[in-house]
Amino acid sequence: MDILMNYIDGIWEKSQTGKTRDVICPSDGKVIAVVTESGPDDAKKAIAAAKKAFYKDRTWRDMAAVERAAILRKVAELMEEQCEELAKTDTLDNGKPYREAEGDVSDAIECFQYYAGLIDKPEGGVYNVNKGFGPMHSYTVHEPVGVCAQITPWNYPLLMAVWKLAPALAAGNSVVFKPSENAPLSTIKLFEIFEKAGIPKGTANLVLGDGPNVGAVFAESEDVDMITFTGSTKTGQFIAKAATSNLKKVGLELGGKSPLVVFADCDLEAAVEWAMIGIFFNAGQVCAATSRLIIEKSIKEAFLDKLVEKAKKITIGPGMENPDMGAIITEGQMNKILGYIESGKNEGAKLLCGGKRYTEGKCADGFFIEPTIFDECTPDMTIVKEEIFGPVLSVLTFETEEEAIELANDTEYGLAGAVITKDGARAMRVIQELRAGITWINCSQPTFCQAPWGGYKKSGIGRELGVHGLEEYQEVKQINMNLAPAEPVGWFTH
Ligand code: NAI
Ligand code: MG
Repeated sequence: MDILMNYIDGIWEKSQTGKTRDVICPSDGKVIAVVTESGPDDAKKAIAAAKKAFYKDRTWRDMAAVERAAILRKVAELMEEQCEELAKTDTLDNGKPYREAEGDVSDAIECFQYYAGLIDKPEGGVYNVNKGFGPMHSYTVHEPVGVCAQITPWNYPLLMAVWKLAPALAAGNSVVFKPSENAPLSTIKLFEIFEKAGIPKGTANLVLGDGPNVGAVFAESEDVDMITFTGSTKTGQFIAKAATSNLKKVGLELGGKSPLVVFADCDLEAAVEWAMIGIFFNAGQVCAATSRLIIEKSIKEAFLDKLVEKAKKITIGPGMENPDMGAIITEGQMNKILGYIESGKNEGAKLLCGGKRYTEGKCADGFFIEPTIFDECTPDMTIVKEEIFGPVLSVLTFETEEEAIELANDTEYGLAGAVITKDGARAMRVIQELRAGITWINCSQPTFCQAPWGGYKKSGIGRELGVHGLEEYQEVKQINMNLAPAEPVGWFTH
């Protein structure tokens, strides 16, 4: 197999370490590609290239916004031409069902188009400051931050890359990028597209490798002006600490343990389906998964009967066969999830369905887990407190609205939350009380590149997507122009 390479300063090259890494398909455990495995020197080389592109060459930064937008539209166009290949790549590398990967590619294309459209729109403001020093015109402009380091996880390999790259590039920054070592292939294809679309050399640099050897070097570097990361809270905390070296800007999109609050007046069929989407989509490997079902006691039995019946019918298999649910990213993550399931049993939760690795038919050598539902959970249980990042739902019950809100907020995370009820005013009351950045009424999970995405509490810092997502990759400069005729203001008395 050819060794897939880094893209640094416009050149595809192998790491200086000489090491490689096998890329595994989680549906069957087979090696599907070999990539170069970078070390700290590659990371530093990429940072130097990005720095030179931003501060010396200035090609991308100084390009008219409409011209940058045209190149980003070209990226979207090339992605569209290769959409099947991109979807197949994420399906094989990540293990997700093909139709979900197709959805990711389509969302990724839309995200490039959105930021291409946004970047030449009005920005900044004019301020009424006239006081003290005579007539003054005060206004703001938005400028790129500089060298942005970006690190992504493996659960939405292409889409997470695009959520970061589209706004950062639209704003005129230079980028050093590290995809997850567990699913790097679609990002490599995206950088091939960047090259074809004409993004200038040194502007977007790709470094393939792991956290300690590449990601940590990005976080610590004093030549990096900003770092954005999606992944675990633990790694996010490490990055935030390392970023104090030069007080670089930080954007973190971290874990969650999001609630789905269901009231007794709901449409049962619809609510059950949203509950399933909330925890079994992408096999539960979703930061915003609604992994805690908080349900009104009076309908619990009826709701869970239906939910369990449907969960048992979920088809599981290799992503290319388009099952309802695909594989877990690695053997390690699978075992971690199985460990959580054990802890649920040991701590007294009642297992309603699933709970095991799935090895039927073509799944024998892959990393699959059955859709799993635990009833009779209590707030102190590990499966209720910690992010499992797998197809495991914990069920809690309430009798009053206040109790529902208290349970929903009883978490160190604050990424997302959802409520299902036919009572509109109650839906609004509950949502307003939720300490979470992404919320849904009468649904769970729909995500749009036009709206800001991010969390409260330990779920992160800052927002991606929408106008906020662009502004994260910009510095705001105030400009104050003295409008008085050029003569001394006479401040000093001598
Ligand atoms: P992770 O947070 O360790 O990995 C995510 C990314 O960070 C990868 O690109 C990785 O190489 C990089 N990284 C790791 N250590 C680093 C370091 N010291 N400095 C800089 N970059 C570093 O997540 P992992 O180990 O893959 O999964 C563990 C758990 O994290 C999951 O079970 C899940 O709970 C959570 N997670 C959350 C995600 C989200 O979307 N919020 C996505 C992926 C994982
Ligand atoms: Mg893989």
